[in-house]
Amino acid sequence: MPLLEIKNLSFQVDGAKIMDDLCLSVEAAEVHALLGTNGTGKSTLAYLIVGCEGCRPTAGTILFDGQAIHTSKIHERAQLGITMAWQEPVRFEGISVAQYLTLKDRDLDPAPFLEMVGLEPGRYLTRMVDRSLSGGERKRIELASILALRPRLAIFDEPDSGIDMLSIRNIMPGSTSQF
Ligand SMILES: Nc1ncnc2c1ncn2[C@@H]1O[C@H](COP(=O)(O)OP(=O)(O)OP(=O)(O)O)[C@@H](O)[C@H]1O
Ligand SMILES: [Mg+2]
Repeated sequence: MPLLEIKNLSFQVDGAKIMDDLCLSVEAAEVHALLGTNGTGKSTLAYLIVGCEGCRPTAGTILFDGQAIHTSKIHERAQLGITMAWQEPVRFEGISVAQYLTLKDRDLDPAPFLEMVGLEPGRYLTRMVDRSLSGGERKRIELASILALRPRLAIFDEPDSGIDMLSIRNIMPGSTSQF
C-alpha cells in the first residue's frame, strides 16, 4: 500500500480552478520532486496534503497509509507524521534554535541535526530564530527541524530557495555529502 495516495484531487478558490483531477502515489522511502512554473499549484498541493486552514479539496481523496485524511485538521495529520517545510521559513521571536529543534522532544540532542544541514552547533544553538539569521541559515534550520521531527512524510516547498549555489547539489536526493 502506498504511504500517500492522491486520487483525482481538485481544488477551486472563488470559482477559479487551481487543481484539476490530480493523481499521485508515493511509497515509503521514495523521493518525489514536483516541477512546475510559478503558479502551477505546487505549494497549494502541499497545503492540501498537510491540511492548512481553508485548504480542503473540492473533489478527490488523499489517503495516508490507506486512511482518508483530506478532511482531517492540520494537527491530526501532523500526529500521523506528516510535516512540511515552508517555501518561506517562519520566523519566531523569543525562541532559540535549540528550543526550536526540541519542541517535540525536549530530551533530544539538537546538535547532530544542525551538523546535518552544515551549521556548526556551537555557533547556532543559542541564536534566536528571528530576523537576525540570514535567509539561508533560516532555511537550513527549518530543514534541521524537519529532520529532528523524524516525520513519516516530509514535504519541502522549494527546498533550494535561499540556499547558496555551492551547496545546492548537496540537497539533491541520493546525495551523501552534507551541505
Ligand atoms: N486563495 C487564493 N485565491 C486565489 N487564487 C489563489 C489562491 N490560492 C492560490 N491561488 C492561485 O493558485 C495558483 C497556484 O498557486 P501556488 O502558490 O500553489 O503555485 P506554485 O506552483 O507554488 O507557484 P510558485 O512557483 O510561484 O511558488 C496561483 O495562480 C495562485 O495565484
Ligand atoms: Mg510555491
